Amino acid sequence: MTPGIVHEIENQLSVIADRTGLAEKLLQTDAAGSAPRIKGALESIGSDVKRIDRIVKSVRTMSQNPEATHTQELLQIRSVLDEALELFRCQIQSRPARLTIADISPQYYIKGNPTQILQVFLILLNNSLDAIEGMATEWIQVDAAIQHHTLQITITDSGRGIPAHPHERSFVPFYSTKTASKGLGMGLSLARRHMESHHGKIWIDPQSPNTRFILQFTQVLDAAGKAAGL
Ligand SMILES: Nc1ncnc2c1ncn2[C@@H]1O[C@H](COP(=O)(O)OP(=O)(O)OP(=O)(O)O)[C@@H](O)[C@H]1O
Ligand SMILES: [Mg+2]
Repeated sequence: MTPGIVHEIENQLSVIADRTGLAEKLLQTDAAGSAPRIKGALESIGSDVKRIDRIVKSVRTMSQNPEATHTQELLQIRSVLDEALELFRCQIQSRPARLTIADISPQYYIKGNPTQILQVFLILLNNSLDAIEGMATEWIQVDAAIQHHTLQITITDSGRGIPAHPHERSFVPFYSTKTASKGLGMGLSLARRHMESHHGKIWIDPQSPNTRFILQFTQVLDAAGKAAGL
């Protein structure tokens, strides 16, 4: 585990220890009216435990060596994206957000791990959904294009972009502008790791007026697993 992750877990554990101590003290005093504070302490412990659980799960996923632990197979990009969108639609249905998906050609394949690529799409879609919450117009658009002999999939949302300077900061593990219960700051670092293990790249489009993430797949294949000749 990286020192940052260990530090994060230690922080959470010390908060849990504090809250436990507080709850114990309140129980000893047996003062009337302490029940809501004990309840508050227990709720806080519960959410900290969940946060540690999420950290440990992310670490487990991140520490998997994709080459060693995952068989890579021929994946049709469109079908992995369709699967991600199916899962994502369950989340978006209660929201006023509009989701637009470009018609992605079924002829593009990559060699890779389906779970990891699915995860990359979901990380970006969920980030967009968080970012546009409460905006006057909530939309997310997924496009695909061939650029410089690579396949680029873009996920754009109605947010106004991430200021140019901290672009790279967004990809640093544990960088998050969300509340502790909403975000760990692990999504984008995981997405980048997965893309890199698939000869791909991920970055934020500095030219787009809206927030746009670009996924670039450099080794695109055809249905027979041969170089697609884009
Ligand atoms: N579509 C987006 N629009 C605006 N800001 C974004 C967008 N995607 C990511 N960010 C910024 O980048 C930060 C890091 O994103 P990342 O996915 O790594 O973590 P998170 O979403 O905060 O938490 P987690 O993904 O672990 O639940 C976010 O907290 C947010 O500030
Ligand atoms: Mg995220």
